[in-house]
Amino acid sequence: MDSYGAEDLFQAQAHLYKLIFNFISTMSLKSAIDLGIPDTIHSHGQPMTLPMLVLALKIDPAKSGFLYRLMRFLVHSGLFVKTKVGKRGKEEEEEEAYDLSPCSRLLVQGNAPNLTCFAQCVFHPALSDPWKLLADWFYREEVNPFHCTFGMGFWEYGSENPEYGKLYNKAMVRDSEMMNLVIRDCRSVFEGMQSMVDVGGGNGAVARIISEEFPDMKFTVLDLPHVTGDLEDTENLKFVAGDMFHHIPPADSILLKLVLHAYSDEDSVRILKKCREAISGKGKEGKVIIIDIVINEKEEKHELTDPKLYFDLLMMVAVTGREREEREWKKLFLEAGFSHYKITPFFGLRSLLEVYP
Ligand SMILES: C[S@@+](CC[C@H](N)C(=O)[O-])C[C@H]1O[C@@H](n2cnc3c(N)ncnc32)[C@H](O)[C@@H]1O
Repeated sequence: MDSYGAEDLFQAQAHLYKLIFNFISTMSLKSAIDLGIPDTIHSHGQPMTLPMLVLALKIDPAKSGFLYRLMRFLVHSGLFVKTKVGKRGKEEEEEEAYDLSPCSRLLVQGNAPNLTCFAQCVFHPALSDPWKLLADWFYREEVNPFHCTFGMGFWEYGSENPEYGKLYNKAMVRDSEMMNLVIRDCRSVFEGMQSMVDVGGGNGAVARIISEEFPDMKFTVLDLPHVTGDLEDTENLKFVAGDMFHHIPPADSILLKLVLHAYSDEDSVRILKKCREAISGKGKEGKVIIIDIVINEKEEKHELTDPKLYFDLLMMVAVTGREREEREWKKLFLEAGFSHYKITPFFGLRSLLEVYP
């Protein structure tokens, strides 16, 4: 301690308090969603002053000072932006108003893409309670804190609690809809393929997006029975209930979006070997396409590494997975018998990895 001056320690105190109070960011965001603030500003069609917001949210005007403070924090954290509008009746005078930022635009219901459901799925006790046992878990036998909390694995929990299972699947669909933004830019990745199996493809959102660009391609979505249950096949999209550890239907290409990050290295190699078998009919031209995080702490911006590391810990707490650096991905590919790969950082947090036999 002696080597640190007062200034260092006060800076450390500010940093520590920021870490201690990080949950306030999460809970304030949750309140904004629960109050419906993004939807309210969106349906108003233009920035809203504080009194307008109080009125629209049906909040007692006596509480407007409290709403002001919540909004001040949410503007500071980038969820909303503050702007100026002309005063009603006195257009020459300006007053402050709140508008959506790109971040809160992603929380407007009915807008695509929309990540409200993703947030609700993470705020749910299924994904928030296990953190309370993180420290305990280091001294316990269970495979992860989720098991310590619920006595079962995450996928089993989704099957036993259909309401949560549905919320989770919907959250994944919403996350996948972000693919619409870039699908045209990655046409070359899918060109030349006549068939594709989306392994762990959930409700088939990604397969649908790709099939709109490639209507002649045949798609199969393989997922657990409680996920594929009542989903209907279409002309070029078929749902198959099954277990990727046992069998993956043959195809020219296999897609794994956000699947391998939920598994240990040993299980990921088992899945990748099954994928290699499935594309063997296409010879050297078959490929496995992976959409997942690649951590690159040295080269990427700090703001991008933060959420990647959050996902890494989430995978540790909820399932038995991990987020990987390029060298860790490469090790998996070589162990599973693949010869080369290409990484394209297409999707913000996620990259597209093409893996060849
Ligand atoms: C993180 S989600 C990804 C869903 C989808 N790929 C997406 O990105 O929207 C992982 C998916 O793997 C499925 N899954 C888990 N274990 C599986 C297994 N043994 N066989 C097939 N699918 C499985 C889950 O039901 C879930 O839909």
